[in-house]
Amino acid sequence: MSVHNSDLTAVVHDANEIVTIEEDGSLGIYEDAAIAVVDGKIERIGATGPVTREFSPEDATHAIDASGKAVVPGFIDPHTHALFAGDRSDEFEAKLQGKTYQEILADGGGILRTVRAVRDASDEELLSNLLSHLDTMLAHGTTTVEVKSGYGLDTETELRMLDVINRADDQHAVNVVPTFMGAHAIPEGRDADDYVDEVIEKQIPAIAEQGIAQFCDVFCEEGVFSVEQSRRVLEAGEEYGLTPKVHAEELAHIGGTQLAAELGATSADHLLHATQGDIDVVVESGVVPVLLPGTAFGLGAEFADARAFLDAGAPVAIATDFNPNCYSQSMGFATSLSCVEMGMTPAESLVAGTKHAGMALDMPDGSGTLQPGTPGDIAVLDAPSYVHVPYNFGVNAVETVLKDGKVVHRA
Ligand code: NIG
Ligand code: FE
Repeated sequence: MSVHNSDLTAVVHDANEIVTIEEDGSLGIYEDAAIAVVDGKIERIGATGPVTREFSPEDATHAIDASGKAVVPGFIDPHTHALFAGDRSDEFEAKLQGKTYQEILADGGGILRTVRAVRDASDEELLSNLLSHLDTMLAHGTTTVEVKSGYGLDTETELRMLDVINRADDQHAVNVVPTFMGAHAIPEGRDADDYVDEVIEKQIPAIAEQGIAQFCDVFCEEGVFSVEQSRRVLEAGEEYGLTPKVHAEELAHIGGTQLAAELGATSADHLLHATQGDIDVVVESGVVPVLLPGTAFGLGAEFADARAFLDAGAPVAIATDFNPNCYSQSMGFATSLSCVEMGMTPAESLVAGTKHAGMALDMPDGSGTLQPGTPGDIAVLDAPSYVHVPYNFGVNAVETVLKDGKVVHRA
C-alpha cells in the first residue's frame, strides 16, 4: 500500500510473537511477525518479511525492533477508583490482623476517610496524584482506564473529581473513561434515602449539565445502598444519559446483578458472591461481568468463580479495582491472580484484560484486539510470549507501550 498522504505511525518488527484477539475471543498468534500502524490505526499484521517490504521501518515515525519479544494489545482496565488523596496503608495492617472492611468503614475509616482527604485536597494535588498513578499504569501496559468519582459525596466535590478525571484524560497518554459514583458510600451523619435524593436531585443533573461522565455506578451492597436505592440512582442517571454500571455481590449477595440485567447495565462488577442464577442472568442479558481478583486478594476473601462465568459463555473481563483498599495499578498482576486463583488460562486472562474489558466500557468494537482499523494501542513485552504476563507475577513484563501508534513509554 502506498502511504502517500498518510502517516506511517509505527512499525514493530521481528517480534517473536504478536497476539491479536479474534472475533470469537480466541487468540491469533503470529510468529516472527510485524505490525504496521498507519494514521494511528492498525493497518497490517503478518510475517515480518512481507509486512516490512510493504511498510518499511525506515519510513515509520516509530520503529521498534521487537526481536525475541512478544507484542500484545495495550491493557484496558475497566474498573478503578484511581483518583484519591491520603494514605490508608495502616488499614492494610489492620485487615491482616483480622479487622474486616465493613468494621473499618463503620469506624469512619475506609471510603469515608478517603472522602475527608479528597475534600481537603486541592484540585492540583488531586490531578498530580492521578497523573502519577496513570504513569504507573501506562508503564504496566494499560492504555485505557476507567476512573470513578465517589470520594466527594457532595455535589461540589463530585464535580471537582470528575473535572480532574477529565483533565487527566486531556493531559495524559492513557485514555481515561470517567464514571460518576456519587452513590459510593453514605456520607457521615446522613440518612441513606435522604442522600440518595441528593444524588438524584442535585449531583446527577449537575454532572450531566457539564457532560463530564459517561457511566453512573452504585455500591449496591448490604449496609450501603439497597437494590431499590441503587435502582433509583441508576434510573435517574439514565434519564440524564449516564450508562449504568453496578458494584454487585461484593461483600454479600443482595441482588445487584439482577438489577444490572433489568436496567441493561454495561457491566456488573465484583460478583464474589454471585449465584448460578446471577451467572445465567448475566449471560442472557449481555451484561459484562467484571471480576476484580486484586480486591479478593487484598481482603483475603474468596475469589469470584470466573470458571463458572466462562463455562456459561460470559465475556469475563478483569480489572485492577485500583483504590486505597486495593493498591495495585497492575493489570499484569490481575492476570496472574486470574490464572492462579480464578482458574483462568493465560489466554483467557489476556482476553479478559483487553477485548472483554473494552466491552465493559462500551468501547467501539475491536478495542483491545489489534484487529485492522482499531487503535494502535500496543504493549511490547520484555519476554518471548504473552504467557509471561501472568507467569512473571509481581514483576512488570511490559517494556514499551504505544498509544495510537506513538511510543508513550519505554522501560
Ligand atoms: O470497588 N466497593 C466499593 N468501592 C471500592 C473500594 C473503595 C475504597 O475502599 O476506597 C471497591 O472495592
Ligand atoms: Fe470498585
